[in-house]
Amino acid sequence: MLRKLIAGNWKMNTDRAGAVKLARAIADGAAKYSTVDLLVCPPFVNLVPVGEVVKGTKVALGAQNMYHEASGAFTGETSAAMLLDAGCSYVILGHSERRHILKETDADINKKTSAALAAGLIPIVCVGELLAEREAGQTTAVIRHQFEGSLAGVSAEQIEQTVIAYEPVWAIGTGKVATPQQAAEVHADLRKLLVDRYNSGSAEKVRILYGGSVKASNAGELLAQPNIDGALVGGASLNAEDFLGIAATGAAL
Ligand code: 13P
Repeated sequence: MLRKLIAGNWKMNTDRAGAVKLARAIADGAAKYSTVDLLVCPPFVNLVPVGEVVKGTKVALGAQNMYHEASGAFTGETSAAMLLDAGCSYVILGHSERRHILKETDADINKKTSAALAAGLIPIVCVGELLAEREAGQTTAVIRHQFEGSLAGVSAEQIEQTVIAYEPVWAIGTGKVATPQQAAEVHADLRKLLVDRYNSGSAEKVRILYGGSVKASNAGELLAQPNIDGALVGGASLNAEDFLGIAATGAAL
């Protein structure tokens, strides 16, 4: 079994003082969960102060987005090298809010994924279907399309350094969590896509996270499913006790 990764996506929440306080509480509580990996992804402007808090602890730092170019005249954008310099080891790419609100395409996400891997950042590449797509029986096709588009050109060696997150859009921030069976089905499809594209050795090294209304109360059932190798947590990651409760669940499995 892969080591579980419990990742907090803070989205556009927390001011600097709040981010530092949250990170400190998570880092203080994290030490006892030695069998899981923990990650926090604060907003860009809070990466450095949060990085100072989590440095030397078991909590890793990640960003919520990046741009694929290395440097230059790209007003408002942030490169992989800048994120590494700020202390990040992970970056979330292709989150559904970026796909649907900010209109990022699979091609955009693919360029970012390649740039992150080339720079030595671990990308967490997100995929997930809309409610209408699920209801129309298109979930498998949508996930395959996003997988192929977002991960085009990624080598077997690189995929082993990549995390995939399945986040059904209808479960994000809605309190409507996917059932463990619904999540496990898509995770199994993703594992098969990895085996078919690469090989079983590489496919088995890729952590596939579930995201969408994960809480301490439902994490146990989800994380116990085959092919669910961790959680990408939104709302519940903004409260240290709740986030650590999910970490505790993952650590106990
Ligand atoms: P919630 O946990 O708030 O549903 O958000 C999930 C998510 O989008 C994590 O990236």
